[in-house]
Amino acid sequence: MLRAAHHVFRSLLTIFQLADSNLRQRDTGRAPAALRALTNGFSTESNSQRLAGKVAVITGAASGIGKATATEFIRNGAKVILTDVADDVGRAVAAGLGSDASYARCDVTDESQVAAAVDLAVARHGRLDVLYSNAGVAGAASPAPLASLDLADFDRVMSANARSAVACLKHAARVMAHQPGGGCVLCTGSTTGMLGGVAALPYSLSKATVVSLVRVAAEELARSGVRVNAISPHAIATPLLVRSLARVMHHPGVADEGEVKRMVETGMSELRGAVLEVEDVARAAVYLASDEAKFMTGHNLVIDGGFTAGKRIGVPAAR
Ligand SMILES: NC(=O)c1ccc[n+]([C@@H]2O[C@H](COP(=O)([O-])OP(=O)(O)OC[C@H]3O[C@@H](n4cnc5c(N)ncnc54)[C@H](O)[C@@H]3O)[C@@H](O)[C@H]2O)c1
Repeated sequence: MLRAAHHVFRSLLTIFQLADSNLRQRDTGRAPAALRALTNGFSTESNSQRLAGKVAVITGAASGIGKATATEFIRNGAKVILTDVADDVGRAVAAGLGSDASYARCDVTDESQVAAAVDLAVARHGRLDVLYSNAGVAGAASPAPLASLDLADFDRVMSANARSAVACLKHAARVMAHQPGGGCVLCTGSTTGMLGGVAALPYSLSKATVVSLVRVAAEELARSGVRVNAISPHAIATPLLVRSLARVMHHPGVADEGEVKRMVETGMSELRGAVLEVEDVARAAVYLASDEAKFMTGHNLVIDGGFTAGKRIGVPAAR
């Protein structure tokens, strides 16, 4: 008994000593090897090869979140097929990422193109481990009252943002459920799908649908070893958001895209001292796609600096 207690005490002491020496070395260099080994499984280093050997298809990968995720996946050892409708940009982005990246056109509103992207991965690499359903559109910029909702805009947004996720899941399941090791599907949701009043109704509803879809699909596909998760970021200054806000706010001489970008980065966040960037989403995607997340399915990983965590009540501040 005493010997066991002594052993536990020694182990704790070693950990505290390692942590202390790490703190002391923080400004001067890297942590000691023993502590690195202790935390090795949770490394966030960009070259940690957490996706080594995995094959991924990412939609909407020519820009923003998709492009950052493709970059981070490649750094972590994956082979990535970037897809988009912006062919020239997509090809250039893939070319810049080296021989593990390639580009293929995939308009996610067309099921046959989604099916073809999935089949391309299998034909080229023998399997598909990760399908990231990320492409999306903003739709009409200004939140219209329900009474004047444009249902044609609603259909366009639902098709690009929600129906596309259904198509991705359908064709990912077709392949992943029958391959050894299953697979992983990621979908980009949004905080706008969790709260009213943040975005126009079609966009909000499309993202709420994505989050619900993830739970429904995760339940069915768990039995086939396929994990399904959503990532829901808050506002990030990508072309999708900046252009859409610039359109709403545009009065001659008032809002250019630079101004809107500054507003998104400084005025839309609750978390002091940090700006949400596409790389934050990309790193979350690396985690969910990696074997570190092997038991994670049906989740909505919200990246919002606390934006959806609460709402202040109108009580006067204490004097
Ligand atoms: N930027 C934000 O604030 C924010 C927040 C939450 C969620 N999102 C979501 O993130 C995802 C990526 O957007 P982003 O912010 O990186 O914007 P982005 O404009 O940088 O990238 C969107 C990409 O999707 C592509 N695309 C559009 N329609 C397509 C289609 N039919 N088929 C294939 N590709 C298509 C575009 O060409 C573009 O390359 C979207 O689903 C968006 O709704 C964005």
